[in-house]
Amino acid sequence: MSATIIDGKVFAAKVRGLVSESVAKLKAEHGIKPGLAVVLVGEDPASQVYVRSKGKMTVEVGMNSVEHKLNADTSEVDLLKLIDELNNDSSIHGILVQLPLPSHLNEDLVINSINPAKDVDGFHISNVGLLGTGQKSMVPCTPLGCLMMLRDYHGSLSGLNAVVVGRSNIVGKPMAQLLLGDSCTVTIAHSRTKDIQSVTRRADIVIAAVGRPEMVTGEWIKPGATVIDVGINRIDAPEKGEGKTRLVGDCDYVSCANVAGAITPVPGGVGPMTIACLLANTVTACCRAHRLTEPNGLTA
Ligand code: GUN
Repeated sequence: MSATIIDGKVFAAKVRGLVSESVAKLKAEHGIKPGLAVVLVGEDPASQVYVRSKGKMTVEVGMNSVEHKLNADTSEVDLLKLIDELNNDSSIHGILVQLPLPSHLNEDLVINSINPAKDVDGFHISNVGLLGTGQKSMVPCTPLGCLMMLRDYHGSLSGLNAVVVGRSNIVGKPMAQLLLGDSCTVTIAHSRTKDIQSVTRRADIVIAAVGRPEMVTGEWIKPGATVIDVGINRIDAPEKGEGKTRLVGDCDYVSCANVAGAITPVPGGVGPMTIACLLANTVTACCRAHRLTEPNGLTA
């Protein structure tokens, strides 16, 4: 294995350090404490783990964390009422509604009811449009984390061929916009792409965000390319014992690492960056709300 490992744990700790410094400065110089509200509807176990972890890290960087846990049968009217209250609460600078929502709730409607300035997920249609037209916006956390790691590793991304595998609204599409913003030549590949390996093999940067365990193998990768693995998939691991599981990415780590110049591991790659970027977005939203200078290095 020859690839450099891009350590998301170390990088995320650095980003959280920058966030902590900004939070301390906001308090000391302006008497402001940034606040993040997280709304969880229902009892999805994975979502509960994420929300707990978000709350813990929000407090660790010195911000206010507010959690709203609603029953799975909460009506759309009641959820929209809560969002309206949070939109109008000046102590709350960021609002995140954990997805997926129970099926009786219209996700688009709910997300688009968040004040775009407080939309720290960057999912609101206004933020999508602002990002797509190169204007200042709130940027989705996972792609922002990937961009930060790529900039840190490569310096300039200008002119590089980037292939994003996956076309989701949460990762694939905003990732492509961000890479275009940094002057990459960008291709979005997906499940219907013909001869996908010949497309990814031209890439200097491959971003895998398809949600399929170990789909991208070393044969897909140009020697020396940078591989960013967004996937987090739990698969059976009979080699560890009966009923045991392990986490893998969308890339087959061993074969990709044999060919790539650099690669993010799973776990410990993109994952930790997502929450770090959520905290970064909350500080950014707070600074913008108070018309204060935004800290460097925390936005796209
Ligand atoms: N569920 C899984 N990932 C995310 C995310 O980044 N934001 C929200 N709101 N929900 C999620």
